[in-house]
This record gives sequence, structure tokens and C-alpha cells, in this order.
Amino acid sequence: MAVGVFDSGLGGLTVLQALTRRLPDVPFVYYGDNAHAPYGTRTPDEIFALTCAGVERLWAEGCDLVILACNTASAAALKRMQETWVPPDKRVLGVFVPLIEALTERQWGDNSPPREVDVKHVALFATPATVSSRAFQRELAFRAIGVDVEAQPCGGVVDAIEAGDEMLAEALVRSHVEALKRRMPHPQAAVLGCTHYPLMEKVFAEALGPGVKVFSQAALVAESLADYLTRRPEFVGPGREAKFLTTGDARAVSDRATQFLRLPIRFEAA
Ligand code: DGL
Repeated sequence: MAVGVFDSGLGGLTVLQALTRRLPDVPFVYYGDNAHAPYGTRTPDEIFALTCAGVERLWAEGCDLVILACNTASAAALKRMQETWVPPDKRVLGVFVPLIEALTERQWGDNSPPREVDVKHVALFATPATVSSRAFQRELAFRAIGVDVEAQPCGGVVDAIEAGDEMLAEALVRSHVEALKRRMPHPQAAVLGCTHYPLMEKVFAEALGPGVKVFSQAALVAESLADYLTRRPEFVGPGREAKFLTTGDARAVSDRATQFLRLPIRFEAA
């Protein structure tokens, strides 16, 4: 009954933590494509090919349902995967929709027309590929009207996190927040649209200042998956064992994961 969790690297562990907390009986198989991270500076074709390869590996582990914890893959590849590639007996779900549903105060699966919402000025922090896909704005437009989104491509942050350089990651986060605030001085809400960024959530919140509600995805995605599995239990696959797979150097990735999450985690080669 395993479920797969895909990410370009370590960032998806923030989502995995929330998933295991919310669904303690489900074994999750995590796949981090550390050898090819960061995805945020890759082309949509590259992101599509790499994401499909990772999802196939998770299907081989008995995970009929795979969550793309990676926003960049969700933004640049998911639509094409769902429309052209995923067979009918499998599911691949992304992380944008739960977040946007929370931001627009909708119930899961509410398909009513877009309407005005309280939050009018939203700051989006994401990778360059996610920002240029405009997937967030597209999904938001289906649900809300009159929301001004200012997006900041946060170059370098994922590389610094993957390299284990917390000080550089912090400095980069502060400068990206400053850059965004020059264009939108008073955002009401900020979306951390990359799974790596919750590892820097405190720094984002501090740099944004009080009064800005910071939305991060992990808990929202967990709630949405719990809801999905009660409606579609047939998509819990036949796999039994939780594990951590990486395309990178298993020892180095394990050390970095342990450093960031402050929990012992052991990856094996994918
Ligand atoms: N962690 C991924 C995301 O959520 C992508 C980071 C990257 O590989 O650039 O966007």
C-alpha cells in the first residue's frame, strides 16, 4: 500500500514529514533526483524527461500514486504528463492545487467559478522554471479574481541547500525577499513555492516582517492526500516498504538530509 513522493532533491522531505505525520500507516517511498538537481534552471523538456524517469522508478516500487512534491516538476511537467503519459491505472498529483485552494479559502475539489477573495497581494517565491511557467497564476485564475501576484525567481537557494551551505542560503533568501519588496512593498501573503524553502521558512518570515501570512505546502498537501485516499483508496499501490531512494551519492545525500531535518535518514541508490 505504498505511495511515492518525488522531488528533485532534498526539499521534498519537508512534504514527506507532513505526509508521514498525517498518514502514519501509509509506507511512503521517497525519490530524490539529487544527481540532476536543481531542476529550477532546466528546460521544460528536461524537467519532463527527468520527472517521468523518477515516477517510473516509483511505479516499480509498487507506488501506483505518486505525489510530485517538487513545485518545479508540478509547474513544468505535470500537465503534460497527465495529458500524454500517465496510464489510466496510475495517478500523478502535484502540489500547487492544495496550496491555491487554501489561499483562496476553498474546500478540496470546489469547482465553482472564480470569485473575489480576501488576499489581494501575493508574493510568490519559487525557482526560475516555476516562475516562468506561470502555472501558479494559471491555477489561481481558475479560482480567484483580482489577486495581484508578484513572483520572485529565487536563483541559487536550492543549490546552496543541496550543497549544505545554510549561511549562503540565508543570505540569498534575504536578498530575494528584498528584491520582491521593492516591487511589492506590502504583500499580504507569501507563498513558498518550492519544497526546499520551508527549510528556510524562519528566514523568509523574518525578512518579510510581521503581518505577512506565509503559506508553505507540506501540511496542505498532506491534508489533500488524506482526503484523496479516502475517496480513491484503489490508488494506494501494492508496495509495502517505506524507503528513501536517490540518484545521487547515497552517503552524502543521507548526511545532508540528516543535517537539514535533524533526523537520521538513510538513502539508498535508486
Ligand atoms: N524542490 C523543487 C521545487 O519544489 C525544485 C528545486 C530545484 O530542483 O530547483 O521547486
